Amino acid sequence: MIKIAIDGPSGAGKSTLSKKLAKELGFVYIDTGAMYRAAGLFCLRNGINIKEESDKAADCVEKITIDIIYLPEEGQKVILNGDDVTGEIRTPEVSIAASDVSAIKRVRLRLVELQREMAKSHNVLMDGRDIGTYVLPDADIKIFLTASNEERAKRRYAELLEKGQKCEYEDVYRDMLYRDKNDSSREFAPLKAAEDSIMVDTTGNTFEESFELLLNLIRERL
Ligand code: DC
Repeated sequence: MIKIAIDGPSGAGKSTLSKKLAKELGFVYIDTGAMYRAAGLFCLRNGINIKEESDKAADCVEKITIDIIYLPEEGQKVILNGDDVTGEIRTPEVSIAASDVSAIKRVRLRLVELQREMAKSHNVLMDGRDIGTYVLPDADIKIFLTASNEERAKRRYAELLEKGQKCEYEDVYRDMLYRDKNDSSREFAPLKAAEDSIMVDTTGNTFEESFELLLNLIRERL
């Protein structure tokens, strides 16, 4: 089975690019961020203060089921304990909760187990923060996507507006820096480029330009 790992901070374009690349290559796309988001949402719904009650949060996450399914018409659906939470996991509150819950080691161990299981039986393109360093250290191709802070915040802001969510650019920028710091400073499997990853900076690129660049880069190596 072939494994492609795409890591990087939020707003670098990982998930939109990964989704389209996987489709083009005929690989299964695994959005690991969506799994942390579902776990974060579950904690919020249960009134858990993730930072103060990490054991309680981990106990909860050990009991939930998270499924990611693909419908031909609608695309990816994220199912938490049987409920479709696809839209709900994309709010700013859930972004923060996902980052906080992802810093808990027991939560990561549980979700990484599921992610590795998914990669056993298919050619996969998996995106996240620790795929090349921890989840799939033997991935055939590892890419680390970056973009400037301003560009990443602008993309995230545009995405939220497009979904009809009310937000201020300054809040999006602040939340993004909070997540960057949280995700890269946690003790266990932090956001970090693997030594053998290819660094790609998407600042100033259109989506199509980044897509072509990555597709060529992958095809050259497969
Ligand atoms: O990619 P995303 O924005 O949907 O991810 C949400 C949060 O989940 C992110 O802030 C950090 C965490 N995450 C992680 O720790 N490890 C991954 N492999 C994917 C996401």
